Amino acid sequence: MDKADIGLTGLAVMGQNLVLNMERNGFTVAVHNRTTKTMRDFVAANPGKKLVPCESLQDFVNALKKPRKIMVMVKAGAPVDGVIDQLLPLLEKGDLIIDGGNSYFEDTERRAKELEAKGFRFIGTGVSGGEEGALWGPSIMPGGQREAYDLVKDIFVAISAKVNGEPCVTYIGPRGAGHYVKTTHNGIEYGDMQLIAEAYDILHRTLNLSNQELADIFAEWNSGELQSYLIEITAEIFKRIDPETNKPLVDLILDEALQKGTGKWTSQNALDIGVPTPTINAAVESRCISAIKDERVAASKVLTGPQVQFTGDRKQLIDAVRDALYMAKICSYAQGMALLRAAGKEYDYNLPYGEIAAIWRGGCIIRAQFLNRITDAFRREPDLPNLLLDESFKADVTKRQASLRLVVQTAVSMGIPCLALSSAIAYYDAYRTARLPANLTQAQRDFFGAHTYRRLDKPGDFHTEWSQ
Ligand code: 6PG
Repeated sequence: MDKADIGLTGLAVMGQNLVLNMERNGFTVAVHNRTTKTMRDFVAANPGKKLVPCESLQDFVNALKKPRKIMVMVKAGAPVDGVIDQLLPLLEKGDLIIDGGNSYFEDTERRAKELEAKGFRFIGTGVSGGEEGALWGPSIMPGGQREAYDLVKDIFVAISAKVNGEPCVTYIGPRGAGHYVKTTHNGIEYGDMQLIAEAYDILHRTLNLSNQELADIFAEWNSGELQSYLIEITAEIFKRIDPETNKPLVDLILDEALQKGTGKWTSQNALDIGVPTPTINAAVESRCISAIKDERVAASKVLTGPQVQFTGDRKQLIDAVRDALYMAKICSYAQGMALLRAAGKEYDYNLPYGEIAAIWRGGCIIRAQFLNRITDAFRREPDLPNLLLDESFKADVTKRQASLRLVVQTAVSMGIPCLALSSAIAYYDAYRTARLPANLTQAQRDFFGAHTYRRLDKPGDFHTEWSQ
């Protein structure tokens, strides 16, 4: 058999599906896995395909066209370093290693610098879309040397999702830029998921809607401006009946949201570089509070809330929740995009914001019609400081803010938690407030710690002896 165009090591489901996607698109793929049986089973299950089975890393490296292109699909963290360490002695300068896992961007920064110093090429790439996306077209976010990207561009373009004929892959920037953008994608994903969960909770608890009614509402929303993969699967989820009990499956699922950590990285880094992302943070914190189920159950028996019934118009509330969700989503994406903007400067990534929004339109978990509008906004004004300032989004939030306020008020008055929805309106209000009460905070800092303050009426740093 001819030498392979690319090799992939790490044949868990994502790895296997990426291989099948590459092969379907005409590429010959060398395949390797630490446990050889997994590789043999995979090749045996896919007869007649242009796959080159490799039992050892040496075979794997020998099977590849030069410069070699090796995609690593192993668990983020130490396993990635382990595979790279094993590969390096077998490779030649100019060969390319691609880490396609959900790696922490600082790890990717380190690996990029180390490998570049040794003469190797390295790409850290986000791959979003889950198992189906990997097989039929993910959104791909590659960062690394530009010429390294050029080596695999044809493969990535071929396997990526397409929207209006445009591939959902673009060169993101140097070193850790691709994984930074993937992490931000996941932070936004957490935000979307939490906003949807709160919309569900409010509808469910105020109006006592059945799962079929919820399914119908989400399906209807999916045909309008909220159209997105996450809304679509939400409607599907409400319809699923558990075959064992004949009850709606969603009602039987334990209410503890787990996390692998990528959303948390978004919040952590946003705090590090001083960018407000309250809706993404609220989503991470909502998962944390969900995880202390035993404590919550105990607290539910001793702490009371309001005993209020919803007496308003049902249809009006459903429409208000839809509009609130849309406005909160705009606020959440505004935070995510502002984070990318700051990170692009902080880490010298020179990020192409419009193109990032464009490659999120298809293939990935946050894919949505709405991303067409974000793409247009950043293509119109690449240095847009905040999405809320774009004329078309400004019009949207102006129209919908009353709904978001009403929904948050309703939730609070009934004692229904809405960390993400309320953070979204608070972000909107804080962002549009010319004078915040931080003057008082500064006075306090100066009072107890002589930290000084600046004044509105003259330049310089000032300190007052407050206790005199
Ligand atoms: C994607 C997903 C994917 C994965 C998350 C789940 O873009 O395809 O984001 O990367 O499903 O890691 O993250 P949590 O386990 O933290 O929810």
